[in-house]
Amino acid sequence: MAIFVTGGAGFIGSNFILEWLRHSDETVINLDTLTYAGNLENLASIANDSRYFFIKSDIGEFDHIAHLLSQHRPRAIINFAAESHVDRSIHGPEDFIQTNIVGTFRLLEATRAYWNNLSEEARENFRFLHISTDEVFGTLSPDAAAFNEQSQYAPNSPYSASKAASDHLLRAYHHTYGLPVLTTNCSNNYGPYQFPEKLIPLCIHNALAGKPLPLYGDGRQIRDWLYVMDHCAALRLVLAEGRPGEVYNIGGRNEKSNLEVVHTLCSILDELRPLAEGKRYRQQIIFVPDRPGHDRRYAINASKIERELKWRPSETFTSGIRKTVKWYLNNQDWVQNVTSGAYRDWVTRQYGA
Ligand code: NAD
Ligand code: DAU
Repeated sequence: MAIFVTGGAGFIGSNFILEWLRHSDETVINLDTLTYAGNLENLASIANDSRYFFIKSDIGEFDHIAHLLSQHRPRAIINFAAESHVDRSIHGPEDFIQTNIVGTFRLLEATRAYWNNLSEEARENFRFLHISTDEVFGTLSPDAAAFNEQSQYAPNSPYSASKAASDHLLRAYHHTYGLPVLTTNCSNNYGPYQFPEKLIPLCIHNALAGKPLPLYGDGRQIRDWLYVMDHCAALRLVLAEGRPGEVYNIGGRNEKSNLEVVHTLCSILDELRPLAEGKRYRQQIIFVPDRPGHDRRYAINASKIERELKWRPSETFTSGIRKTVKWYLNNQDWVQNVTSGAYRDWVTRQYGA
């Protein structure tokens, strides 16, 4: 038996594969086109593992995906492949439309053709797990209840609109064709191997380099943070026990303002990597112009997955963020490798000189 993981060289996908092979001997085939966000170094520790294969492929290439499906005959597909950074979607939405909408559509079409030709038993056991985001629900006012599985879709950025479109395709493929799909909508992840364009790794990287820690607007926007391994554990449960056609919200019940998050990072760094002459990392915080259309608050109500699948996160924000800072401190070579070249062009484009 084998599973296909798309986008497995990215942040969550690579953590998922590493976690999968710690719990299972089932073969994992990682299909990733290796955009700037895909990095095989994340998977260096399993490169020679006989249970793991990497195939460079784009989810939008129907013929290639159809060929791979008939060749390897997976029992499940876990779809992480996406363009994932909101700020990049504001600068240039085209790639988001191509991968997140057209790519997901082509992947679904190839899967439908493959699934239709399976035996009845294999059709019943097959699963397509689609990894989505809480951003599809739009923004919350300070006192509003957290998003649940019935919350209305109201995406506000090109990124979230493209993810919303892909979620709708999943829903349609289940209702129209009976494809056994599962969709998860998760809140903000953090942890090892996150590309330093996202808030937490960007601030750790800049802090250590003596550069500004840029907070958009007033820095009081709220996100609901979840340690990436807790997300991966939830996904394994949904794949094993989730009901086809169902949606599961995943979140850490860890609402924090961006200012609180960056202050926490600074305090941990003050302790683990103190600056000279009594200086504090928080002195590097600066406020920069806000992200256009910036969602003020996200929060996830994870009652359904907690109740039905008995999932609980194992890390608190305090324990998870400490682990994360330590990981970045101990893996500066990884950071150096991913922040060379094109990364610098992005930083200049987004934050100016
Ligand atoms: P990421 O940007 O780190 O990784 C995305 C991966 O997909 C990369 O390896 C990239 O090379 C690959 N990819 C991109 N286009 C592809 C294509 N056309 N074909 C094949 N591979 C392609 O993203 P991430 O943060 O790991 O997010 C993974 C998924 O989880 C995304 O679907 C994202 O929307 C969702 N999600 C992310 C978060 C978060 O906080 N990071 C939270 C909720 C949901
Ligand atoms: O909520 C889930 C989503 O979380 C995922 O679907 C996305 O793929 C993932 O990128 C993430 O989106 P965000 O936009 O919330 O993440 P980001 O790390 O880019 O930003 C987190 C918050 O920090 C957000 O309010 C914007 C703010 N921010 C971000 C950057 C990069 C800053 O204030 N300064 C920055 O330089």
